[in-house]
Amino acid sequence: MSKEKPELSDAMKAQMRRKTPEKNPIKGTKFTLAISSAKGGVGKSTFATNLALALKKVGCKVGLLDADIYGPSVPKMLGINEKPKSDGQKLDPLVKYGVQCMSIGFLTDQQTPMIWRGPMVTSAIKTFTQKVNWKDLDFIIVDMPPGTGDTQLTFSQDIKIDGAIIVSTPQEVALLDVIRGIKMFDKLGVKILGLVDNMSFFIGDDGKKYKIFGEGGVKKTAEEFQKKFLGEIPINSKIGKCGDEGKPIVELDTNHEISKIYIDFANTIKSTYL
Ligand SMILES: Nc1ncnc2c1ncn2[C@@H]1O[C@H](COP(=O)(O)OP(=O)(O)O)[C@@H](O)[C@H]1O
Ligand SMILES: [Mg+2]
Repeated sequence: MSKEKPELSDAMKAQMRRKTPEKNPIKGTKFTLAISSAKGGVGKSTFATNLALALKKVGCKVGLLDADIYGPSVPKMLGINEKPKSDGQKLDPLVKYGVQCMSIGFLTDQQTPMIWRGPMVTSAIKTFTQKVNWKDLDFIIVDMPPGTGDTQLTFSQDIKIDGAIIVSTPQEVALLDVIRGIKMFDKLGVKILGLVDNMSFFIGDDGKKYKIFGEGGVKKTAEEFQKKFLGEIPINSKIGKCGDEGKPIVELDTNHEISKIYIDFANTIKSTYL
């Protein structure tokens, strides 16, 4: 592993130096869990969505907050095309497969790229956490954007995050970013529930395991920083297909081997908090 030390942005360092006031939990929920990755395309939204559905399957009341303002994916992954209702004060979340959902993609044309400045992102996040009628939830799963930017800062300033899960793929470039993510949550005092190695391996038609992105890097990083390693999710073409069709694998086929991994994660989380 390279010895290069990933650095945090100046804005993030300044925030860490500031005294953190008592943070508000999101109204209508008991626990807020952030699903984070330092890099895009590692399967964070896939993980957040399937974990939310798995928590629902094990009997929890769940919300899914798509905090990726520049690249929302919850509308497509859950096949939601409606607009949320508003009473002029607050927005009602849209409910799909029993999960309460909110995404910037519900409010804008999904083909239009978000060309927003930081303060606009901050205000969108505040709306989603303070002005949505989340109802009677055990958990809100927050699909964070990649990196350590405005959304992470807003959450760390204003909202109590009860736990964070960092998703990564096993390549070394991804791992450097993971270290940056670990440092950010540690300094913000957010408990890291653990690290997940997504797309760890692929089982060929010959039945053999192919580790195309390298081996064991996420686990090693977890050990190095004394974090829990939550487990591996293999590459499976069904995951992408289900996501594209608006019915994630946990919902489509609860007994699938991948779904079972998610149900295990959900049971671990449920027993940790409830
Ligand atoms: N374990 C997996 N096996 C196969 N494809 C996956 C897996 N996890 C994610 N994908 C696919 O990888 C792509 C990126 O996933 P996504 O969840 O959108 O990543 P992120 O939110 O980190 O940018 C999607 O097309 C998704 O279907
Ligand atoms: Mg995403």
